[in-house]
Order: sequence, then structure tokens, then C-alpha cells
Amino acid sequence: MSKIATLEIDGKKYEFPILVGSENEVAIDINNLRDLSGAITMDPGFKNSGSCTSKITFLDGEEGVLRYRGYSIEELSEKANFLEVSFLLIFGELPTAKQLEKFENDIRRHSLVNEEMKSIIDGFPKTAHPMGVLAALTSALTAFNPKSVNVENEKEMYEAVCKTMAKFLVIASWTYRKSVGFPLNYYDNTKGYVENFMRLMFEVPTEPYKENPVIIAALDKLFILHADHEQNCSTSTVRMVGSSHAGLFASISAGVSALWGPLHGGANQAVLEMLEEIHANGGDAEKYMAKAKDKNDPFRLMGFGHRVYKNFDPRAKIIKKAADEVLNTLGVEDPILDIAKKLEEAALVDEYFVSRKLYPNVDFYSGIIYRALGIPTDMFTVMFAIGRLPGWIAQWKEMRENKEPIGRPRQMYTGQTLRDFKPLEKR
Ligand code: CMC
Repeated sequence: MSKIATLEIDGKKYEFPILVGSENEVAIDINNLRDLSGAITMDPGFKNSGSCTSKITFLDGEEGVLRYRGYSIEELSEKANFLEVSFLLIFGELPTAKQLEKFENDIRRHSLVNEEMKSIIDGFPKTAHPMGVLAALTSALTAFNPKSVNVENEKEMYEAVCKTMAKFLVIASWTYRKSVGFPLNYYDNTKGYVENFMRLMFEVPTEPYKENPVIIAALDKLFILHADHEQNCSTSTVRMVGSSHAGLFASISAGVSALWGPLHGGANQAVLEMLEEIHANGGDAEKYMAKAKDKNDPFRLMGFGHRVYKNFDPRAKIIKKAADEVLNTLGVEDPILDIAKKLEEAALVDEYFVSRKLYPNVDFYSGIIYRALGIPTDMFTVMFAIGRLPGWIAQWKEMRENKEPIGRPRQMYTGQTLRDFKPLEKR
């Protein structure tokens, strides 16, 4: 392949280098396009624009492939645990047994959250959405950890990673405890990370908490499946905010806000609400399919479609299987699962969905599992955020280590040209 791309504007030719990634992805490096030609490119939604090079996650949307640091998502979700995968994403290699033990212990060491954070939570009404509270609390952590991380100092960066992993899990669970009026509790340093999450959420002072290993294993798998997804909306946000050299907590707080939207992580809550509505209205999946296809109706089939996957989302395949297993093992019969399967079957043979390559995405079945595990619906996106945390940290770290410049897109101005100011009395 030629190593040069040629662009012609107004009869003048410009040449740009062609870059090829390790999986043979091709990019045209237009870094000096404006300097040379005065022109910029337009690509709203960044459908064709790369913002960085990255060694973290590879995804091939046409083939339905997802790999973290070269390892397939199928193998990782089967054989590794969430902290191993987090270490892999953040530090580049799978940990040795010793490194993993140290990582787990170092996270424990940072699990106390400043007591003054509790008064911040007290300021929120009980009805506040947990994602809004989580974004605010993550941002508030900057007040208690004001020192910015020196990314070139390995020890400092490692400590920041452990601190973020530990405190985020605790405050995520507190958003739920606040909403139900439970006393805020503490990480138990004798337990594992995912085990701790369930305790942090559901343990009450009045009776012993009984763990369910099926639930822990299912959550672990779900967290792995959500752990990274290259330059999606929230991750790009984390990298963008971090590119101004804002701190790790501030950048992650921005990522939480981006994730909240129903077109992104908020879709898992929207899917379950949609399935419940279909169920409540007699289970007529066809009616909702018709609504989704009607261009005069803003309704979209939530949990379907993806910006990058134009083939099955590999995570959805794994989650669908896990949903069946978890519901069977827990002995839960959920009519919602049947509606989901009916909708999927109908969409897979429907011309509208087939021609637009709209397949179930990661969020389509995850809510059904969360529901079976006893997680309330408005906590679903918080669950996604916990899973995505190591990805955000890894991408933030990589961006700073690569010394990427501050993110600052261009625009094409289409507003008024210069005009005279009219004094107030003449308008
Ligand atoms: N239901 C009905 N029609 C759809 C849907 C859907 N879920 N998704 C896309 N379309 C149609 C859309 O109307 C458009 O049709 P036309 O070409 O006739 O105008 C076409 O398919 C292309 O859609 P698009 O909006 O241009 O595609 P996009 O790449 O900008 O959007 C998406 C991707 C995920 C935002 C979109 O598919 C969607 O809104 N899905 C529902 C929300 C959802 O499940 N989000 C979770 C995404 S996966 C997890 C995550 O990233 O957080």
C-alpha cells in the first residue's frame, strides 16, 4: 500500500502520511493539514476521526472482535477475574500472583473514604439519581486528594490507581445506601473487591450478611465485559478532560457524567424500563418494533445498535449466555427475559434492523442479570461505571504518558458575519 495519501483542494495537491496500526488499521495523518492548506476536516460525532494511538483495546466492529491488550474478551471473561483484568488494562501485562496479591492489598489500604464525604452525601435528596451523586462525589474526592499525580513517577501513579479503584467502589455503593436510607458503611479488608461491593451495597447492621458466590462470579464477569471499549463517549471525555492536566478524580467524574446518558451507559437502565413497559402492556413486542421503525416516533429500541459494531457485539453474546446461566442457577424466572429474547429474534430478521446492522449491544441483557442479582434499576449505570473504571484510568494514564496535547477541536463557523452593535433603545 502507498504510504502517502494525496488531497486536492482548488487544484492544489497536498500529501499526507498513511499510518498503519498493529492490526492493519489505516489512518491518514492530517496533523499539518490546516498549516499547509488552511482547511480543516468536518466529522461530527467523530465517525471517521482517530483522536489518539492506543495500545490498550482493539476492537473490530465489522468482525465483532474485542481484545484487551491482545487477549480476547471471551478468554478473559472466562479465565480471569476483574482485578487481574484491571491490572492488565492499566499496567499493560497480566499480573503475576504476587503482583495481583499486592494490588488487591494496596487497594484495601486505600479503602477508607474521608468521613467528611458523608456530609456531602447528606446534602443530596434521597430521590437524586445515583449517577448524578456519583459524579459529584467523585469530583468531591479531589478536595480530599488535592495533590496532582506525577504520571512519570511510577510509585505515585500506582498509588493513585489503587486509591481511585478503592474509593470509587465505596462511594458508588454509598449512592445506593443514601437512596434507601441505610447507614454508610466501610470496605472489609478481609474480603475481595467484588465481594466487597455486594457487602457495601446490601449489608445491614442488624443481621449477618450472607454472600452468594453465584452473584459474585456473575458480577465479576459483567465488570470484565465493561472494563474498556477504546475511544467511546465517556472514555474520550476522560482523555479530553485529562488532556488539560486536570486530575484523575476530576477527569473520571466527567466520564461518569458522559456515561450517564441513555445513548451510552444509561441504556442499560433504559432497556429494563422498556422491557418492563412492554411486559406491563401485554408483552406485544411487535408494537414496540413498529414504534422503533417509525421515523415520526422518537422511540428507539434500547440496547440495539452500536456506533462501532456492525456485527454482533461480542459482549452481548457472552452476557446473553450468562443471563440464562445466572437465572437458572438462582432459580429466578423472569418474564422480561422472554420478552428480550422475542425482541431479539424479531429484530434479527427484520429488514429495518438488518439493513442498518442493528444488533443487541452489551446493555441489552446486562440489566436482566443485574435485576436477578437484586441490583435496583437506577443503579445499573453505576454498575457500568464500576466496570469501566479501570478502562478510564488506563486511558487517562496512557494519554498523559504519551504527552498528548490538550484536546481542542476546530469548528466551521456558520453564524453572522461582522455587524454593527444596536443600542438597547433601538432594538
Ligand atoms: N432503534 C431504532 N433505530 C435505530 C436504533 C435503535 N436502537 N439505533 C440506530 N437506529 C437507526 C437510526 O434511526 C438510523 O436510521 P436512518 O439511517 O434511517 O436514519 C440508523 O439506525 C443509524 O443510527 P445512528 O443513530 O446514526 O447510529 P449511531 O452510530 O450514531 O448511534 C447508538 C449508535 C448506540 C447511539 C444508537 O444505535 C442508539 O441510539 N441505540 C440505542 C441506545 C443504546 O442501546 N445505547 C447503548 C450503546 S452500547 C453501550 C455503550 O456504548 O454505552
